[in-house]
Amino acid sequence: MDPRVRIIDFPIIHEPRGNLSFIEGGVHVPFEIKRVYYLYDVPGGAMRGGHAHKQLQQVIIALSGSFDVMLDDGHSRQKVSLNRGYHGLYMANMIWRELENFSSGAVCMVLASEHYLESDYIRDHDEFLRAVHA
Ligand code: TYD
Repeated sequence: MDPRVRIIDFPIIHEPRGNLSFIEGGVHVPFEIKRVYYLYDVPGGAMRGGHAHKQLQQVIIALSGSFDVMLDDGHSRQKVSLNRGYHGLYMANMIWRELENFSSGAVCMVLASEHYLESDYIRDHDEFLRAVHA
């Protein structure tokens, strides 16, 4: 696996009243968090992602339910299944990702190192491969 992709275990405070996890920018994720977005009400069979980012780093968390993330660093592909709110999938820049197999009620929260910037996206896979192998 590309070392620029990894699972981060967030702290868990177990209590009879329920569990609590927390995430501090620059502490539990390797960047200051500038943006949070989330995917929900994803219909069965839908695919999200399908792009890479030139600079953006992200951490993807299955806050509820489950989904699969297909990761492609331009050399090899790998699938990671997420189904725990205390696991984060960190990905550095220049990783192609596709999210699929969303369960009913799944909520995918993403922590991002930058504000939204369309020019940071690479939405064409051939262009991504050319950039990786340049
Ligand atoms: P996109 O990142 O392509 O979605 P996904 O990777 O989940 O399939 O974003 C979908 C649309 O939402 C696109 O028009 C851009 C917009 N968008 C924002 O305006 N701000 C954001 O922070 C994000 C992530 C997307």
